[in-house]
Amino acid sequence: MTTGKKPWGGRFQKPTAESVEKFTSSIHYDQRLYPYDIEGSIAHATMLAGQKIISKNDATKIVSGLKSILKDIQKGNFKFDPSDEDIHMAVEKELIRRIGEAGGKLHSARSRNDQIVLDVRLFLRTEIGSIISFLKNLQSTLVGLAKEEIKTVMPGYTHMQKAQPVLLSHYLLAFVEMFSRDVQRLNECISRINILPLGSAALAGTGLPINRNVTAGVLNFPAVSRNSMDTVADRDFVAECIFAVSLVMMHLSRFCEDLILWSSEEFGFVEISDAYTTGSSIMPQKKNPDVAELIRGKTARVYGDLLTIMTLLKGLPMTYNRDLQEDKEPLFDAVDTIKDCLSIFTEMIRNTKFKAENMYRAAGKGFSTATDVAEYLVGKGVPFREAHEIVGRIVSYCLKNKKELENLTLKEYQNFNKCFKNDIKSITKPENSVNARKHTGGTATNTVMQRIREFEKNIGKI
Ligand code: ARG
Repeated sequence: MTTGKKPWGGRFQKPTAESVEKFTSSIHYDQRLYPYDIEGSIAHATMLAGQKIISKNDATKIVSGLKSILKDIQKGNFKFDPSDEDIHMAVEKELIRRIGEAGGKLHSARSRNDQIVLDVRLFLRTEIGSIISFLKNLQSTLVGLAKEEIKTVMPGYTHMQKAQPVLLSHYLLAFVEMFSRDVQRLNECISRINILPLGSAALAGTGLPINRNVTAGVLNFPAVSRNSMDTVADRDFVAECIFAVSLVMMHLSRFCEDLILWSSEEFGFVEISDAYTTGSSIMPQKKNPDVAELIRGKTARVYGDLLTIMTLLKGLPMTYNRDLQEDKEPLFDAVDTIKDCLSIFTEMIRNTKFKAENMYRAAGKGFSTATDVAEYLVGKGVPFREAHEIVGRIVSYCLKNKKELENLTLKEYQNFNKCFKNDIKSITKPENSVNARKHTGGTATNTVMQRIREFEKNIGKI
C-alpha cells in the first residue's frame, strides 16, 4: 500500500494499492505534456483572477510558482514521482508544495477531463505545425531535384510493367503534389484542434462565473467549444491527426518502395549514398537500403496507432472514461515516427544519385512509345481502336523479329499501314514522347518546368 495522499483522497478509507497506482499511472509518458499543462494552468489562473474567482495575489503566486516549476523541469532539476498518476497531479502537487494554500485554488472551475483535452490540443497544435515544416522542407528538396534533373527521362510503370516514358522530374513532382495535399489536410486538422476545451470541467461545465473567451484569448484559440459533454468525451481530432499522418507515411512508403527497387542491380536507376545505407554481417558485397525499408516498415506502426485510437473510441459510453488515457502513447508514437521519417528521408533523397543514362536506356525499351505510334495514326485520321490494333500487330512483329519500334524501317511500318511517313522515326524517341504531352498535368518539359516554378513560388504558402 502506498502512503501518498491523493488530491481526490477525501472519500477513501484505504490507500490505493501499489499495483493499482502502477497500473493507472500515465506519468511516465504524459510528462512530456508539461509545457502545455503549465501554459494552460497559467492561462486558467489569469482568467480566474480576472473573474475574481481567486484573488490577484493568489494568481500572481500561482503563475510564478508554475513558471519556476517549468524552469526546473526544463533544466532537468525535477524528478517526477510515479505515484503522481499523471502530469496534471504532478504539477499541481508541486505547486502546492512550493506556494502553499494558493496552489490549491488553481483547480477551481476545472477538471482533469477538460485539462487533458487542452494539453493534447496544445501539444498537437505545435507538433502538427512542426510536421508541416518537415513536409515543406522535403517538398523544396524535391522541387530542387526536379529542377536539376529536368532532362532525365525514365520509364513510367503501370502494373510494374514499362508503360510510357516520363521525366524523372514529373515523377518527383508527383510526390510534391501528394505532400501538398498532406499539408492541406494537416492544416485542416489544426483548424479543428484550435478550439478551447477549458471550462467544460468534468462534463457539465462549472457553476463558477468563468469567462472562457478570456482563456481562449490568452491561449490563442480562435474559438471555444460549444458543448461540454462533447468536449471531454471525444478524441476525433486525435484520430484525424493520426489519419493525416498515416497518409504522409503511406506516401513516404511508396516513394521508399521505388527507391528500394531502383537501387537493385536489376534496375540500376539510383545509388543511395553509402552514408544512408547499411552493410551485411555476412555478405561483404552488400549495400542495403535499410533506411528506406525502415520507413516502409514504420508505416505499419503508424497505421497501428490509428487503429488503436479508432478501436479505443468505438463504443465508449458518454462522456469521459479512463480508457481515453490510452490515446497518448499511440499519438506520441505517430508524431515521433513521422518526424523521424520525414527528416531522414529528406536527408537520404538529397544524398541519392539518379543514374540518368540507365533510366534513359530503360525508357526506350519495352515498346514504351507504342502509344505514341498509335496516336501518330490517330493524327492521320485513323480511329484510335484501329490504330491500337495496328500497333499491337507491329509490336508482335517486333517481338518475333527481335526489333524495337525505333529501328523499324519506314517500309516495315508501311507494311502495316500506308499512313506512316518518314516523321514516324522521331515519334519513337523517348524524349519526344515526353514532350508531346504538353497539356496541363502532362510530362512535357515545359509543363513540368512551369509546375516547378509554381511550387518554387508557393511552397512557403501552401
Ligand atoms: N490521465 C488522464 C487521461 O489521459 C487525465 C484525465 C483523468 N481524469 C480522471 N477523471 N481520472 O485521460
